Amino acid sequence: MTTVEKTTTGLTLAAVCLRFGDGDSTVLALDDVNLDVRRGELVAIVGPSGAGKSSLLAVAGGLARTSSGSVVIDGADVTAMPARALAELRRDKIGFVFQSGNLIPALTARDQLRLVAKITGRPGRAADELLDSVGMSHRADRRPGQLSGGERQRVGIARALMSNPSLLLVDEPTAALDRKRSHEVVELLSRETHEAGVATIMVTHDHDVLGHCDRILEMVDGRLRQSE
Ligand SMILES: Nc1ncnc2c1ncn2[C@@H]1O[C@H](COP(=O)(O)OP(=O)(O)O)[C@@H](O)[C@H]1O
Ligand SMILES: [Mg+2]
Repeated sequence: MTTVEKTTTGLTLAAVCLRFGDGDSTVLALDDVNLDVRRGELVAIVGPSGAGKSSLLAVAGGLARTSSGSVVIDGADVTAMPARALAELRRDKIGFVFQSGNLIPALTARDQLRLVAKITGRPGRAADELLDSVGMSHRADRRPGQLSGGERQRVGIARALMSNPSLLLVDEPTAALDRKRSHEVVELLSRETHEAGVATIMVTHDHDVLGHCDRILEMVDGRLRQSE
Protein backbone atom coordinates (compact mmCIF):
# COMPACT_ATOMS: atom_id res chain seq x y z
CA MET A 1 0.00 0.00 0.00
CA THR A 2 1.23 3.51 -0.76
CA THR A 3 2.00 5.68 2.21
CA VAL A 4 -0.22 8.70 2.47
CA GLU A 5 0.83 11.95 4.04
CA LYS A 6 -1.60 11.98 6.94
CA THR A 7 -1.35 15.70 7.52
CA THR A 8 -2.51 16.59 4.02
CA THR A 9 -5.85 18.26 4.28
CA GLY A 10 -8.46 16.19 2.51
CA LEU A 11 -11.33 18.63 2.79
CA THR A 12 -11.80 22.24 3.80
CA LEU A 13 -15.12 24.04 4.04
CA ALA A 14 -14.74 27.76 4.74
CA ALA A 15 -17.71 29.93 5.73
CA VAL A 16 -20.07 27.75 3.73
CA CYS A 17 -23.73 28.72 3.43
CA LEU A 18 -26.35 26.80 1.48
CA ARG A 19 -29.73 28.36 0.96
CA PHE A 20 -32.80 26.74 -0.57
CA GLY A 21 -35.70 28.69 -2.05
CA ASP A 22 -36.14 32.45 -2.03
CA GLY A 23 -38.32 35.13 -0.50
CA ASP A 24 -40.36 34.04 2.51
CA SER A 25 -39.72 30.34 2.04
CA THR A 26 -35.93 30.48 2.33
CA VAL A 27 -34.23 27.68 4.24
CA LEU A 28 -30.64 28.14 5.36
CA ALA A 29 -29.56 24.50 5.28
CA LEU A 30 -25.92 25.37 6.01
CA ASP A 31 -25.15 28.46 8.07
CA ASP A 32 -21.50 29.55 8.07
CA VAL A 33 -20.00 26.07 8.26
CA ASN A 34 -16.24 25.73 8.74
CA LEU A 35 -14.69 22.29 8.68
CA ASP A 36 -11.30 20.70 8.04
CA VAL A 37 -10.99 16.95 7.67
CA ARG A 38 -7.50 15.56 7.23
CA ARG A 39 -6.70 12.41 5.32
CA GLY A 40 -6.64 9.51 7.75
CA GLU A 41 -9.32 11.04 9.94
CA LEU A 42 -12.86 9.76 10.58
CA VAL A 43 -15.22 12.57 11.56
CA ALA A 44 -18.75 11.79 12.73
CA ILE A 45 -21.58 14.28 12.35
CA VAL A 46 -24.66 13.86 14.50
CA GLY A 47 -27.75 16.01 14.83
CA PRO A 48 -31.52 16.00 14.48
CA SER A 49 -33.37 15.36 11.26
CA GLY A 50 -33.46 18.46 9.05
CA ALA A 51 -30.31 19.90 10.68
CA GLY A 52 -28.41 20.00 7.39
CA LYS A 53 -26.28 16.85 7.62
CA SER A 54 -27.05 15.52 4.14
CA SER A 55 -26.68 19.04 2.75
CA LEU A 56 -23.21 19.15 4.23
CA LEU A 57 -22.27 15.89 2.50
CA ALA A 58 -23.73 17.14 -0.79
CA VAL A 59 -21.65 20.32 -0.65
CA ALA A 60 -18.53 18.49 0.56
CA GLY A 61 -18.85 16.04 -2.31
CA GLY A 62 -19.45 18.62 -5.00
CA LEU A 63 -23.02 17.42 -5.58
CA ALA A 64 -24.45 20.81 -4.57
CA ARG A 65 -22.99 24.29 -5.03
CA THR A 66 -22.58 26.56 -2.03
CA SER A 67 -24.58 29.80 -1.87
CA SER A 68 -21.44 31.38 -0.41
CA GLY A 69 -18.15 30.23 1.08
CA SER A 70 -15.67 27.79 -0.41
CA VAL A 71 -15.00 24.07 -0.69
CA VAL A 72 -11.49 22.73 -1.23
CA ILE A 73 -11.04 19.02 -1.94
CA ASP A 74 -7.52 17.61 -1.88
CA GLY A 75 -6.05 21.02 -2.56
CA ALA A 76 -8.43 21.87 -5.42
CA ASP A 77 -10.91 24.70 -4.95
CA VAL A 78 -14.13 23.26 -6.36
CA THR A 79 -16.37 26.17 -5.41
CA ALA A 80 -16.64 27.55 -8.94
CA MET A 81 -15.21 24.61 -10.85
CA PRO A 82 -16.94 23.94 -14.21
CA ALA A 83 -19.46 21.10 -14.03
CA ARG A 84 -17.47 18.72 -16.18
CA ALA A 85 -14.25 19.10 -14.22
CA LEU A 86 -16.21 18.72 -11.01
CA ALA A 87 -17.80 15.49 -12.24
CA GLU A 88 -14.34 14.13 -13.02
CA LEU A 89 -13.02 15.15 -9.63
CA ARG A 90 -16.00 13.44 -7.96
CA ARG A 91 -15.37 10.28 -9.95
CA ASP A 92 -11.64 10.21 -9.19
CA LYS A 93 -11.37 11.57 -5.66
CA ILE A 94 -14.61 10.98 -3.81
CA GLY A 95 -16.33 7.85 -2.56
CA PHE A 96 -19.98 8.00 -1.53
CA VAL A 97 -21.72 5.45 0.70
CA PHE A 98 -25.44 5.72 1.31
CA GLN A 99 -27.78 4.07 3.78
CA SER A 100 -29.01 1.35 1.46
CA GLY A 101 -25.63 0.59 -0.09
CA ASN A 102 -27.00 1.67 -3.50
CA LEU A 103 -25.75 -1.42 -5.26
CA ILE A 104 -26.73 -2.46 -8.78
CA PRO A 105 -29.16 -5.42 -8.43
CA ALA A 106 -27.90 -7.42 -11.42
CA LEU A 107 -24.20 -7.36 -10.53
CA THR A 108 -22.25 -9.65 -8.22
CA ALA A 109 -20.24 -8.07 -5.43
CA ARG A 110 -17.04 -8.47 -7.44
CA ASP A 111 -18.58 -6.87 -10.53
CA GLN A 112 -19.87 -3.89 -8.52
CA LEU A 113 -16.22 -3.14 -7.78
CA ARG A 114 -14.94 -3.92 -11.26
CA LEU A 115 -17.46 -1.52 -12.75
CA VAL A 116 -15.73 1.33 -10.91
CA ALA A 117 -12.46 0.50 -12.66
CA LYS A 118 -14.29 0.50 -15.97
CA ILE A 119 -15.98 3.83 -15.34
CA THR A 120 -12.84 5.57 -14.13
CA GLY A 121 -10.63 3.93 -16.75
CA ARG A 122 -8.07 3.21 -14.03
CA PRO A 123 -7.40 -0.18 -12.46
CA GLY A 124 -7.86 1.14 -8.91
CA ARG A 125 -7.48 -1.36 -6.11
CA ALA A 126 -7.69 -5.09 -6.76
CA ALA A 127 -11.36 -6.01 -6.39
CA ASP A 128 -10.76 -9.36 -4.73
CA GLU A 129 -8.27 -7.96 -2.24
CA LEU A 130 -10.61 -5.16 -1.33
CA LEU A 131 -13.53 -7.57 -0.87
CA ASP A 132 -11.26 -9.63 1.34
CA SER A 133 -10.33 -6.61 3.45
CA VAL A 134 -14.03 -5.90 4.14
CA GLY A 135 -14.58 -9.58 4.97
CA MET A 136 -16.63 -10.28 1.85
CA SER A 137 -14.42 -12.48 -0.33
CA HIS A 138 -16.67 -15.47 0.41
CA ARG A 139 -19.60 -13.52 -1.06
CA ALA A 140 -17.84 -12.16 -4.14
CA ASP A 141 -20.12 -14.02 -6.56
CA ARG A 142 -23.38 -13.00 -4.91
CA ARG A 143 -25.78 -10.31 -6.08
CA PRO A 144 -27.20 -7.72 -3.64
CA GLY A 145 -30.49 -9.65 -3.28
CA GLN A 146 -28.51 -12.58 -1.91
CA LEU A 147 -26.72 -10.49 0.73
CA SER A 148 -27.75 -9.29 4.18
CA GLY A 149 -28.01 -5.55 4.95
CA GLY A 150 -24.61 -5.55 6.66
CA GLU A 151 -23.03 -7.41 3.78
CA ARG A 152 -24.48 -4.98 1.24
CA GLN A 153 -23.12 -2.09 3.26
CA ARG A 154 -19.66 -3.71 3.28
CA VAL A 155 -19.74 -4.09 -0.48
CA GLY A 156 -20.88 -0.46 -0.77
CA ILE A 157 -17.90 0.65 1.30
CA ALA A 158 -15.51 -1.51 -0.72
CA ARG A 159 -16.91 -0.06 -3.94
CA ALA A 160 -16.48 3.49 -2.64
CA LEU A 161 -12.83 2.72 -1.82
CA MET A 162 -12.10 1.08 -5.17
CA SER A 163 -10.80 4.25 -6.86
CA ASN A 164 -8.52 5.15 -3.90
CA PRO A 165 -10.54 8.26 -3.04
CA SER A 166 -9.14 11.15 -1.01
CA LEU A 167 -12.53 11.78 0.50
CA LEU A 168 -15.18 9.33 1.68
CA LEU A 169 -18.69 10.62 2.45
CA VAL A 170 -20.99 8.28 4.29
CA ASP A 171 -24.66 9.00 5.07
CA GLU A 172 -26.30 6.95 7.84
CA PRO A 173 -24.48 3.70 7.05
CA THR A 174 -25.90 1.78 10.00
CA ALA A 175 -29.53 2.89 9.82
CA ALA A 176 -30.71 -0.52 8.62
CA LEU A 177 -28.35 -2.64 10.71
CA ASP A 178 -28.50 -4.29 14.10
CA ARG A 179 -26.06 -3.34 16.84
CA LYS A 180 -23.41 -5.93 16.10
CA ARG A 181 -23.38 -5.25 12.35
CA SER A 182 -23.35 -1.50 13.00
CA HIS A 183 -20.17 -1.82 15.04
CA GLU A 184 -18.58 -4.00 12.38
CA VAL A 185 -19.38 -1.54 9.61
CA VAL A 186 -18.07 1.51 11.48
CA GLU A 187 -14.98 -0.36 12.66
CA LEU A 188 -14.35 -1.18 9.03
CA LEU A 189 -14.78 2.47 8.04
CA SER A 190 -12.38 3.50 10.77
CA ARG A 191 -9.75 0.97 9.74
CA GLU A 192 -9.94 1.84 6.02
CA THR A 193 -9.88 5.56 6.83
CA HIS A 194 -6.68 5.16 8.81
CA GLU A 195 -4.95 2.59 6.60
CA ALA A 196 -5.80 4.07 3.21
CA GLY A 197 -5.41 7.66 4.45
CA VAL A 198 -8.88 8.79 3.45
CA ALA A 199 -10.64 11.85 4.85
CA THR A 200 -13.97 10.41 5.96
CA ILE A 201 -17.15 12.11 7.10
CA MET A 202 -19.88 9.87 8.45
CA VAL A 203 -23.33 11.20 9.24
CA THR A 204 -25.12 9.07 11.81
CA HIS A 205 -27.99 8.93 14.27
CA ASP A 206 -26.34 6.03 15.98
CA HIS A 207 -24.56 7.23 19.13
CA ASP A 208 -23.54 3.67 19.85
CA VAL A 209 -20.83 3.71 17.16
CA LEU A 210 -19.24 7.09 17.91
CA GLY A 211 -16.44 5.45 19.90
CA HIS A 212 -14.87 4.36 16.59
CA CYS A 213 -14.64 7.94 15.33
CA ASP A 214 -11.72 10.37 15.75
CA ARG A 215 -13.88 13.46 16.14
CA ILE A 216 -17.57 14.07 16.73
CA LEU A 217 -19.37 17.19 15.55
CA GLU A 218 -22.96 18.16 16.03
CA MET A 219 -25.14 19.89 13.48
CA VAL A 220 -28.08 21.99 14.65
CA ASP A 221 -30.08 24.32 12.41
CA GLY A 222 -27.39 24.36 9.75
CA ARG A 223 -24.61 25.17 12.20
CA LEU A 224 -21.75 22.87 13.04
CA ARG A 225 -20.29 22.68 16.52
CA GLN A 226 -18.10 20.49 18.65
CA SER A 227 -20.15 17.75 20.31
CA GLU A 228 -20.24 17.82 24.12
N1 LIG B 1 -33.66 20.34 -2.29
C1 LIG B 1 -34.15 21.01 -1.25
N2 LIG B 1 -35.02 22.05 -1.42
C2 LIG B 1 -35.47 22.75 -0.36
N3 LIG B 1 -35.13 22.51 0.92
C3 LIG B 1 -34.27 21.51 1.15
C4 LIG B 1 -33.74 20.69 0.10
N4 LIG B 1 -32.90 19.77 0.65
C5 LIG B 1 -32.92 19.98 1.98
N5 LIG B 1 -33.74 21.02 2.28
C6 LIG B 1 -33.98 21.55 3.63
O1 LIG B 1 -32.72 21.86 4.19
C7 LIG B 1 -32.70 21.51 5.59
C8 LIG B 1 -31.59 20.50 5.83
O2 LIG B 1 -31.91 19.26 5.20
P1 LIG B 1 -30.95 17.99 5.22
O3 LIG B 1 -29.60 18.43 4.85
O4 LIG B 1 -31.57 16.92 4.40
O5 LIG B 1 -30.97 17.59 6.77
P2 LIG B 1 -30.58 16.22 7.52
O6 LIG B 1 -29.79 15.37 6.56
O7 LIG B 1 -29.80 16.66 8.71
O8 LIG B 1 -31.86 15.56 7.92
C9 LIG B 1 -34.10 20.99 5.90
O9 LIG B 1 -34.86 22.07 6.41
C10 LIG B 1 -34.62 20.54 4.57
O10 LIG B 1 -36.02 20.60 4.54
MG1 LIG C 1 -30.09 13.38 5.93
